[in-house]
Amino acid sequence: MKQPFYQKKRRELGNLLPEKSVAVVPAGKEVASSLDDCYPFYANNNYFYLTGIREPEGLLVIQKDEGELTETLYIRKPDYDREKWIGRYITTARASEVSGIGDIRYIDDFLPDSLLRGDQLIYFDQTIPDHQKPSYAENSDDLTPFLVRLRLIKEPEEIEMMQNAISITAKGIDALCDITVPGVKEYELAALFEYMIKDGGADGTAFATIAASGQNAPILHYVENKDTVPENAMVLFDLGAKVQGYAADISRTLPAGGKFSDDAAKLYDAVLTAQELIIDAYRVGASMKDIQAYSREILWEQGLKTGLFAAGAEIDDYYYHGIGHSLGLDTHDLCLDRNLTLAPGMVITCEPGLYLAHRGMGVRIEDDILITEDGPVNLSVGIPKTIEDIERRMR
Ligand code: GLY
Ligand code: MN
Ligand code: MN
Repeated sequence: MKQPFYQKKRRELGNLLPEKSVAVVPAGKEVASSLDDCYPFYANNNYFYLTGIREPEGLLVIQKDEGELTETLYIRKPDYDREKWIGRYITTARASEVSGIGDIRYIDDFLPDSLLRGDQLIYFDQTIPDHQKPSYAENSDDLTPFLVRLRLIKEPEEIEMMQNAISITAKGIDALCDITVPGVKEYELAALFEYMIKDGGADGTAFATIAASGQNAPILHYVENKDTVPENAMVLFDLGAKVQGYAADISRTLPAGGKFSDDAAKLYDAVLTAQELIIDAYRVGASMKDIQAYSREILWEQGLKTGLFAAGAEIDDYYYHGIGHSLGLDTHDLCLDRNLTLAPGMVITCEPGLYLAHRGMGVRIEDDILITEDGPVNLSVGIPKTIEDIERRMR
């Protein structure tokens, strides 16, 4: 993303802020994993969204007074000894170039008391983990609702970035078609996907890759990926690349060896038919609560037709998650409202599934849908999805 994007987003945030207020957005800090190592650091995505910078310890401060915005960005002070071990810190010049903020200072010079100006309201980004919150955050208002309003609606350049993430994910799935056979290990499948997306230019995965064969498919976040793919099984893949911070989130369910068994085909088609009907309901003004209720009805109706449901079963036995979520910098993107009303520019996943633990199988199909005035646009439409297309590709 280029500098004007971050400038625009800060201006928009400024427009939402009340008079005489200050927004404070921290990058977050590294967390120790042992005596001399840290967990991989991922910058707070609100900070990244407003600055383009992904280093720890930064702090963005935007003051609004009489309609005027004053922006200050605090970054880490150079530490040449430490930089020899872990890499170079961003310089003030580079931070200014990336973010478009003129006033760059060192975090050591930040004085929390400078926020306490008369009756100025402090809006702190409360998405930061509690253990990292400074004491002044406790009595602050929450900036999150303003950030949600911005981040839910994607700019064209964000959609382009997500489309890139989806295209790279598609290449990974294409490679999986060649090696999804009985006898392969689930971790081999996950490893090939992760190799392919890195090779394609991704930052890495958007979330832990799920390669769940047979009886593992009903476990929604199965990330162990330790089993051997059995004969006549399907493998449920839920995976995504992250490209310049933006996530793809795709599920495809493939038959090991390239041919769906009769029962697998029945279950697969039930979910696919349901998904196509549900995607069509992703329209401006529709509420996710209504779409959730609709998805339960449709999956029940289509699932019943397969004859695979047990006597006395209910939809909750076979479908036990949300139909979708906002997608963006976070895979489950910033959103406070399960009852979201769809608006143009949102990207929402559509991921119905039916999981038959009593038969050791499950199907989920997930695509990433852009909401437009002219109806839903499936950003992942190019990834094979019908039984015919999948079997042809795997032949
Ligand atoms: N991969 C997590 C999800 O689909 O929401
Ligand atoms: Mn997913
Ligand atoms: Mn999802």
